[in-house]
Amino acid sequence: MMYSRLIGSGSYLPEKVLTNEELESMVDTDHDWIMARTGIAERRIAADDEFTCDLAEKASKAAIKAAGVSAQDIDLIVVATTTADQVFPSTACLLQHRLGIEGPPAFDVQAVCAGFMFALDIADKFIRTGSASCALVVGAETFSRIIDWSDRRTCILFGDGGGAVVLKADQQPGILSTHLHSDGRFKDLLCVPAGISRNYQAIQSGTAFTTMEGSEVFRWAVTAMADLVDETLAANSLDKEDVDWLIPHQANVRIINAVGRRAGFPAEKVIVTVEHHGNTSAASVPLALDESIRDGTIKPGDLVLMEGFGGGFTWGSALIRI
Ligand code: COA
Repeated sequence: MMYSRLIGSGSYLPEKVLTNEELESMVDTDHDWIMARTGIAERRIAADDEFTCDLAEKASKAAIKAAGVSAQDIDLIVVATTTADQVFPSTACLLQHRLGIEGPPAFDVQAVCAGFMFALDIADKFIRTGSASCALVVGAETFSRIIDWSDRRTCILFGDGGGAVVLKADQQPGILSTHLHSDGRFKDLLCVPAGISRNYQAIQSGTAFTTMEGSEVFRWAVTAMADLVDETLAANSLDKEDVDWLIPHQANVRIINAVGRRAGFPAEKVIVTVEHHGNTSAASVPLALDESIRDGTIKPGDLVLMEGFGGGFTWGSALIRI
């Protein structure tokens, strides 16, 4: 039986920090309101000439270095993003070229804020079936490009960033299980109601922005991610006490706390990085994972339950032995 082992992680955040105080001069809001409702103090914003592939490249190079492999060892690239550089080729193909890799499959996955969990699941299945032996899995976003910076209901929440992991085939797990879900009935609660095929006028006029029913999304995010914990533990015949760390999607500290409470995890076992990143969509989980590995919070041998939730709705989890 072949498994995927995580052998390296990396992340990258753009230099520009956008604080709540700066947002106060842009929309009718204030730092205390944002902190109380979201736990977000600041977020990073990509420079005008910085694109999703740039963030993905920096995160990937850090992950490849940490893994101790050469880019030439990588035989699969999966990039989760909602904010691709171009309509096509995929950001994964652009990244592949930047990394000097020629030949193996590279493609994007679009599941918004749950995208990294979908990408991880796919890469894991490639490895388990012997179709790949060393996979680069990336979540990268320039979400700031699809935010209406005059809409206080959404602009306080999101930020830009990238995170990446390298998975390698191994006899020992690694990834113990992955669980994915989608439900398109909720397509209008969190969306950008424009694209290439539909409402292209909004793209042309530069008004293709994220819209959200905040309290509805909040409710569903908590329910879906709390249920995912139960589903993941049951699939592995484990109890919550067996898990060292829970990494929920870093959307909002109130959502994270509510998921932790509902799932029965003490706050000390729940990873929270949202205060300094905001919601970086597909980058949120690999960013939180990489920061926690690098600062020594998550150690080799730890059992980590990661989960994402996003527009669609989409949601998914992975249980992984580091
Ligand atoms: N600053 C100050 N006031 C604001 C504000 C802001 N940035 N944004 C909204 N408000 C106001 C509203 O206009 C409303 O005022 P009103 O009562 O006069 O109409 C009031 O605050 C309460 O708004 P409400 O939407 O009920 O607040 P809330 O407690 O639901 O918090 C969110 C709003 C967005 C923080 C919260 O719903 C949330 O986090 N939702 C999930 C968002 C998310 O994580 N999405 C991504 C998932 S992948």
